[in-house]
Amino acid sequence: MEDNNSNITSNAHGGRLILSQSAILDDIQIRQLERHKISISRRVLSDLELIANGGLSPLNGFMDERDYKNVLKNMHLENGTLFPFPITLPLDNKIKPDDASGELGLSFNDKIVGYVDVEAVFDRDVRKEAEIVYQTDDEKHPGVAMTLNENQTVISGKAYADLSIFPNNFKEYSLTPYQTREIFYNRGWKSIVGFQTRNPIHRAHEHLIKCALEIVDGAFIHPLIGGTKADDIPADVRMRCYEVLLKEYFPKDKVVLGVFPATMRYAGPKEAIFHAIVRKNYGCTHFIIGRDHAGVGKYYGPFDAQKIFDKIRPGELDINILKFDDIFYCKKCESMASIKTCPHNPEDHISLSGTRMREMLSRGIVPDKVITRPEVAQILIESMMNKKS
Ligand code: ADX
Repeated sequence: MEDNNSNITSNAHGGRLILSQSAILDDIQIRQLERHKISISRRVLSDLELIANGGLSPLNGFMDERDYKNVLKNMHLENGTLFPFPITLPLDNKIKPDDASGELGLSFNDKIVGYVDVEAVFDRDVRKEAEIVYQTDDEKHPGVAMTLNENQTVISGKAYADLSIFPNNFKEYSLTPYQTREIFYNRGWKSIVGFQTRNPIHRAHEHLIKCALEIVDGAFIHPLIGGTKADDIPADVRMRCYEVLLKEYFPKDKVVLGVFPATMRYAGPKEAIFHAIVRKNYGCTHFIIGRDHAGVGKYYGPFDAQKIFDKIRPGELDINILKFDDIFYCKKCESMASIKTCPHNPEDHISLSGTRMREMLSRGIVPDKVITRPEVAQILIESMMNKKS
């Protein structure tokens, strides 16, 4: 991609935004890659898309053994750049490690989407990796289960992908980091808050974004649409919720909605760092971390994902982390609040979380308007009814 404006690609994580890994594959190349390929998982497809669109800058491929080991040891690449967990390409069982060489096709659901220029093949200890990344070896943790399921032999090398042939249900919202940076630049926004979510949007989410909007020029709502655990609400339903909320309750010229192709790892604190790095690459200057960011079950403390940023040395991650306390609805204040702003008793508080909303919906209960906007609730209830019928 031609870089017309060096302003747009500057100030990515670890240097300039990487634009070199996006490729256009013609029929001849695809046929060649079909003859020498491996199958990739949903997680790898997500990582590949983020490598190709520059979202994982400074990575331009799958990690080599030195980066892999360093990241597990101290959350830094070999060259000293902060990076919270490994980005790996597991071999599949159809190909022997010795045969993995040259340009190896990457196939998802039997369709070539890119290739890796194989640099090396190495073995990892998936159990040790899971323990370090997720701080637990409990196989009930969805991230641990995902890692333990992967091949222990992995391939390193620069990766290339043709984003035009990627499976994509949200074309209109598929903005690359270059495109979002260009949009922010054209709108004249100097400060942009990024918002990560994997849940249908509720009033606490809305409150967080609106609080942040009071101090920045614009918001980038960036719901994750890659793989999530089975009981999370499907991305297409969530997208309809975000659309209606933005249409009815946000000023159009202050918000950009885009989809985040990542797969959830549910790694809590380490994933919070990952989310912040990637949003910096998408052009954000601020990033929201609330209660139990990227958490699951009781594996992480409610504010562990905020505390981990205190350990990052100044200048290592150039994005302002906006840390929010638990947001609830207070019946006495008649508004969203937190213990920082509300003097009333816990009995007056209605707590809000994606888990709570999912539980209510599964029991057919329409969430009250203090929890979810009625327009959003309607979409969620309709989708639940369609699922049951
Ligand atoms: S996440 O896995 O993507 O973090 P979710 O979509 O529920 O899950 O959360 C999106 C963001 O909103 C996260 O930063 C999370 O910490 C924050 N958040 C969600 N609910 C609350 C709440 N009630 N109070 C404070 N922050 C919250």
